[in-house]
Amino acid sequence: MTKVLIATDKPFAPVAVKGIREIVEAQGYELALLEKYTSPEELIAAVADVDAMIIRSDKATKEVIDAAKKLKVIVRAGAGYDNIDLQACTDHGVVAMNTPGQNSNAVAELVFGMAVYLARNFYNGKSGHELKGKKIGVHAYGNVGQNVGRIAKGFGMEVYAFDPFMTDEQIKAAGATPLHSAEEMYAMCDYVSLHIPATEKTKKSINYELLNRMPKGAVLINTARKEVINEEELVKLMADRPDFKYISDIAPDNAAEYAQFEGRYFFTPKKMGAQTEEANVNAGLAAARQIVAFLEHGDAKFKVNK
Ligand code: 3PG
Repeated sequence: MTKVLIATDKPFAPVAVKGIREIVEAQGYELALLEKYTSPEELIAAVADVDAMIIRSDKATKEVIDAAKKLKVIVRAGAGYDNIDLQACTDHGVVAMNTPGQNSNAVAELVFGMAVYLARNFYNGKSGHELKGKKIGVHAYGNVGQNVGRIAKGFGMEVYAFDPFMTDEQIKAAGATPLHSAEEMYAMCDYVSLHIPATEKTKKSINYELLNRMPKGAVLINTARKEVINEEELVKLMADRPDFKYISDIAPDNAAEYAQFEGRYFFTPKKMGAQTEEANVNAGLAAARQIVAFLEHGDAKFKVNK
């Protein structure tokens, strides 16, 4: 019998698991569930006999893919697939997919949840700031970025975007003013919201030189990946610039060093931009449907490996 595994260190909402189960079982497949596992070995053991698997930020390393002898398709229920060893998938003839756009509104809403929380001094009652009239630069204007742009307009913010993979016309059609370099955008925006993927090119690319271009009182919001930040340089910048603030749903590795910047930073305890029932249902069910479409009809529309 075809076996599908949901392997989620950070579990989906139960309603999403129920929906995935319905799709999988309606097809006559079996569903296995591995949630909140505590070691890579547990994941490696669980993949031994599965034909397909659904993961989130779970690390699908070479060891995991090597151990999954029957695996045909792995779907990252979400956008970023930097957690999958794509080469290992290709080497084993495994198709890797993501579910673009399915969880993007959840991430975008958290951007503003955190922005308001910071602007209002963590709701401590002291006088804070408003978002209206501020300039927000959206770094990469894909599915999440465009939702950020839409919500920012509701706040009365000026929305700018830099995305080297989009034309000016595409950015304008999606509601933002296009800019042509990160340098230009950081120099003029009060807020910058990061939505770039973690790739060899982008890792550590958000550095002192770029951030120091931001105007007085600047806020950097990161709901993308911690790897894109040059962590040592950001701490140095926060030390040199008492006006600079940083909020993220992915705490940096050097989070303890931020204690010295009280009132100027906020990190959620766990990566949670996409952690809503709606996003779990959207991305989880899309993943299940993509698995069925692939196994039954060879449909590899959302394939991300070569
Ligand atoms: C994504 O890439 O889709 C988001 O970062 C969400 O990741 P998560 O599924 O681990 O919450």
